[in-house]
Order: sequence, then C-alpha cells, then structure tokens
Amino acid sequence: MTAPNHTPDVARATVAANERSSVLIRELTSGDIHRLQRHFLALGEEDRLLRFGQAVSDDIITRYVASLDFSRDSVFGVYDDNLALVAVAHVAQLPDGKKGRVAEFGVSVLESARGLGIGSRLFERAAIHCRNKRVDTLYMHCLSRNARMMRIAKKAGMEINFAYGEADGYLSLPPADTQSMLSEMMQDQIAAFDYALKRQLRNARRLVGALLPNQRAA
Ligand SMILES: CC(C)(COP(=O)(O)OP(=O)(O)OC[C@H]1O[C@@H](n2cnc3c(N)ncnc32)[C@H](O)[C@@H]1OP(=O)(O)O)[C@@H](O)C(=O)NCCC(=O)NCCS
Repeated sequence: MTAPNHTPDVARATVAANERSSVLIRELTSGDIHRLQRHFLALGEEDRLLRFGQAVSDDIITRYVASLDFSRDSVFGVYDDNLALVAVAHVAQLPDGKKGRVAEFGVSVLESARGLGIGSRLFERAAIHCRNKRVDTLYMHCLSRNARMMRIAKKAGMEINFAYGEADGYLSLPPADTQSMLSEMMQDQIAAFDYALKRQLRNARRLVGALLPNQRAA
C-alpha cells in the first residue's frame, strides 16, 4: 500500500506547527469579549497611541471592543495560565481595492509578555489565516517610530511606505496551499487543547480555593 501523496505536506506542517508551539494562538469569539476589554484597558497611554494611532479613552476602547464583528473579521489571542489575554491581534477585512482583497493587521502585547516573539508569531498567524481566506494583501499601519512593529514588518518582508511620521506596510500573500491549510488547522487544535487544559486547571484551583476555607473551619 502506498502512502497518501499529501504526507510530505503533513510532515512539513507538523514541523512548522511544532516550532511555533511555544506560542499558542487561539482564534477568539464573541465569548471572549470581556477578556478582550480587560486586555485593551490594561494598555497604557503610549501603547494605546501605538496600537490605535491616537490617544484613546477607556470609553472608546469599550466601544471598539463592542463593535468587533467576529463574523467578518478575525481576532486572535494568546492566553496566560489564568486565561487572561496577554496578546491580541485583530485582522480586519477592508473594502477591495487596487491590491485586491485586503485585510488590516493590528496587534497588542502586554508589556509583561513582550520580547518573547509573541508579536511576530501573531503576525505569522494572521498572514497564514489571510492566505487561507483568499486575502491578497496584508496591510499594517503604525507610527514609524514604533521600532518593534517596524522590525516585525521588515522581517516579514513587507513593502513599507513612510510619510509624516507614519508607516504603511503591505505584504502580498501567496495563494493557500495544503501546507498553509494544515498548518493553521494544527495550530488551532493545539491551542484548543491548551485552552481546555488551562480552563480545567483554573476551575480546579477555584474549587480548591472554595473548599479550603471549609476544611479549615471543620
Ligand atoms: C509591537 C508589539 C506588538 C511587539 O510585540 P512583541 O511580542 O514584543 O514582539 P516580538 O517579541 O515578536 O519582537 C519583535 C521584534 O522587535 C525587536 N525589538 C524588541 N525591542 C526592540 C526595540 N526597542 N527596538 C527595536 N527592535 C526591538 C525584537 O528583538 C524582535 O525582533 P527579532 O525577532 O528579530 O528578535 C508590542 O511591542 C506592542 O504591543 N506594542 C504596543 C502596541 C503596538 O505598537 N502595536 C503595533 C501597531 S498595530
């Protein structure tokens, strides 16, 4: 019996998924709305400016989170052990234009989780997701003084245009293939498993916390 001819793709996708498995990225749903709000509200003034391109109040953040359309856009997150979101990427569909189907990438990583490659991994995940959704171009806008974001954009090979202290980056995406599909599917499954495990551990911790005072009192 011969091996199925997609085996090399499966093997390559497995290796790629394993290499990135230390940063587990889950696609978020409307069920994550309160965690999303907590994530954005935890950003300081400067980070809000870098993320949204302008100073934004708590009220604007609350309205932004409420306006997220999970059926049109995709939102990705990285959780800590308590299921708080330490990083979030929003991939928003833009109207079709000269560059075909375009999606805009916006990202934030809490200060405590920076420098661990999470921002870079989220960008890679957004790019592979967009390929699989038949998006032609991934777009990113940031202040040109945003050294970390510029580094991520340059590493990814984005074409960057600078004007008036701002930067627009464009990445042309190749079409989806078996490897891109499998890679995203595997990352989804690993992240779903990790999330379920963390939730069980958190629930177990809560249960122990609730039982211990009773035990002491007994
Ligand atoms: C930009 C941001 C998402 C980066 O997140 P991160 O998880 O720290 O990113 P990474 O760990 O993947 O690091 C990105 C690169 O920046 C480099 N870097 C770190 N600090 C740097 C600095 N001060 N100057 C230049 N490069 C720096 C890292 O070395 C890394 O490059 P490498 O992979 O070649 O080593 C994060 O800083 C953030 O949330 N900033 C506020 C919001 C924002 O700016 N969003 C982007 C606009 S949408």
